[in-house]
Amino acid sequence: MRTLKTLFENNTRWADGIKEKDPLFFSKLSKQQAPQYLWIGCSDSRVPANQIVGLLPGEIFVHRNIANLVVHTDLNCLSVIQYAVEVLKVRHIIVCGHYGCGGVKAAMENKDHGLIDNWLRHIKDVRSLHRSELNSLRNESDRYSRLCELNVVEQVFNVCKTSIVRNSWKNGQELSVHGWIYGIADGILKDLDITVTNEDEAREVRGKK
Ligand code: CO
Repeated sequence: MRTLKTLFENNTRWADGIKEKDPLFFSKLSKQQAPQYLWIGCSDSRVPANQIVGLLPGEIFVHRNIANLVVHTDLNCLSVIQYAVEVLKVRHIIVCGHYGCGGVKAAMENKDHGLIDNWLRHIKDVRSLHRSELNSLRNESDRYSRLCELNVVEQVFNVCKTSIVRNSWKNGQELSVHGWIYGIADGILKDLDITVTNEDEAREVRGKK
């Protein structure tokens, strides 16, 4: 119980498997990381970044929190974005939400969840912003799925509004911000088609809504 033996056994098997295919894999990787992507996703155990997009260690920089939120005062998330953009010089920031997100569900309820309600408040704000569209949907499950999508859209805008991303565009750095959503029921990713690649586009998409 103290050592979680199975996990260590799994780890040895996993590392051996990788070394079998490429004996130098870990020693090469230990010298540097040069990922092209930053993934901002939900902490949900069913949405593991590397596996979903088939990438190996070293290929994707990851930040996960409940309901994949990008909050302007969250130093944790902002530090990840800064390091990814300024030091690693990733080419793509992907905000990936998922249908059936427990955080989004909890934000739709009128229940007391304790401390986490302060975090979920950000999703409630997204809901308020899109109240008329959400109210036009026929049933609760459609509203739930749409709010999962709209939450991604708003977080993409939040990424674009950071001084880090705006400065990188100003400096001519190539950087795209994407909004995706993942289906935990079928394992399939969907592009929400809101990719933003420069300040003009960011202004344009913000103006549209
Ligand atoms: Co979630």
